[in-house]
Amino acid sequence: MNVTMIGTGYVGLVTGACLAEVGNDVLCFDVDNAKIATLEDGRVPIHEPGLPEMIHRNVAAGRLRFTTDADAAVAHGTLQFIAVGTPPDEDGSADMKYVLTAARGIGQRMTEYKVIVDKSTVPVGTADRVRETIAKELETRGLKLPFAVVSNPEFLKEGAAVEDFMKPDRIVIGADDEHAVALLRAVYAPFQRSHDRLLVMDLRSAELTKYAANAMLATRISFMNELANLADTLDADIEHVRQGIGADPRIGYQFLYPGAGYGGSCFPKDVKALQFTAQQHGAPLQVLHAVETVNEAQKSRLIVKITGRLGDKLAGRKFALWGLAFKPNTDDMREAPSRTVVQGLIERGAEVVAYDPVAMDEAKRVLSDVRGLSYALSPLDAVAGCDGLVVVTEWKEFRSPDFAALKRRLRTPLVFDGRNLYDPALVRAAGLEYFGIGRR
Ligand SMILES: NC(=O)c1ccc[n+]([C@@H]2O[C@H](COP(=O)([O-])OP(=O)(O)OC[C@H]3O[C@@H](n4cnc5c(N)ncnc54)[C@H](O)[C@@H]3O)[C@@H](O)[C@H]2O)c1
Repeated sequence: MNVTMIGTGYVGLVTGACLAEVGNDVLCFDVDNAKIATLEDGRVPIHEPGLPEMIHRNVAAGRLRFTTDADAAVAHGTLQFIAVGTPPDEDGSADMKYVLTAARGIGQRMTEYKVIVDKSTVPVGTADRVRETIAKELETRGLKLPFAVVSNPEFLKEGAAVEDFMKPDRIVIGADDEHAVALLRAVYAPFQRSHDRLLVMDLRSAELTKYAANAMLATRISFMNELANLADTLDADIEHVRQGIGADPRIGYQFLYPGAGYGGSCFPKDVKALQFTAQQHGAPLQVLHAVETVNEAQKSRLIVKITGRLGDKLAGRKFALWGLAFKPNTDDMREAPSRTVVQGLIERGAEVVAYDPVAMDEAKRVLSDVRGLSYALSPLDAVAGCDGLVVVTEWKEFRSPDFAALKRRLRTPLVFDGRNLYDPALVRAAGLEYFGIGRR
């Protein structure tokens, strides 16, 4: 099938590559000339395991192309996926300008039947707005052309995006048009050969499902963070509590890890946007208000631990920071808790030496104006002469460090483990002081 991807970011690029991988002819369009030039040059602008190989394979096979030409993009695909950003507006609502610009672009150019597929995370009612926008453009052109709008929210996780897309646990389709559903069923058939994973529902429910999923996951994180802070106060160990409740199949182990707060491009903005929608419709979501408040406080929890041990004035102190990305296996720094930690340390006068296996280039770009932040070539280089190691992202390579080597290199032997990676007894046995999140 001919498929156009409008927006070639984390979601658009992965979706485009995976759809090409199963045989579709995919054209990825973006307004960012530099991004398209990078891709045309054979380079991949984001870090995502397995993605470069898949892109190269499909470009070589002629099934995956990139363009900044809007006319070519609209002409190409019967399916026009919209995968542009929906960042938070000042009031917390999702900013729809990119989605509606994409819709306008389709309406201004289409000359035959199209199915417009909203893949971006969008507030309930967006499909109607996309439909109206396209209809208005067609009317301006004096044309009557059939088209359908479908909601197909994306559930991939950065860091495992290719695998998630190739083996989805569900594919949500919101639609009121049988023919459009049939086309999407066909395009997704190769991804669900063992059993049907397609959940077809009305448009509004599909749009709400995406927000509900992210809100639920964020709720679990904030719940565990708040409980971990209580465990600190009660001298209980949250790790035992986590296992004790995770064993209950009704609860399960996933997303029960306390830490330095959630970040990234989705949870913070989606929790805000859902609250905005709820508020707007006179049905405020009180649980989500708490989820967000807890998360904001949690991003400073490591600073609270550090200043609790060393005092509020940190001038002359130096800290090693392990992990900059908002989670492992990505270089995404959007709303990363590391940013709050870096800022908290630097505004108290400390210096920070950071190490991250893949996000340092991105950190240098987004934190270029931060004075007092430098970068190390290896985790052990980062800790040399420091007054503490602060672990912010749970990269695999941080999971089992040589604690004796850390002790030798640190000026002050403190470990602030923002992801509860280490056994406190083991760290202490090496002569280091250990501070976790809710650990005894
Ligand atoms: N990143 C994730 O893990 C993830 C997961 C699920 C859903 N989502 C949702 O998917 C959407 C996209 O997220 P992302 O992380 O891929 O964003 P992104 O910022 O990485 O990519 C968006 C791309 O759209 C391009 N763009 C903007 N306006 C355009 C236009 N009019 N025409 C063509 N291209 C345009 C931008 O230049 C950018 O390259 C968001 O709504 C997000 O909430 C993201």
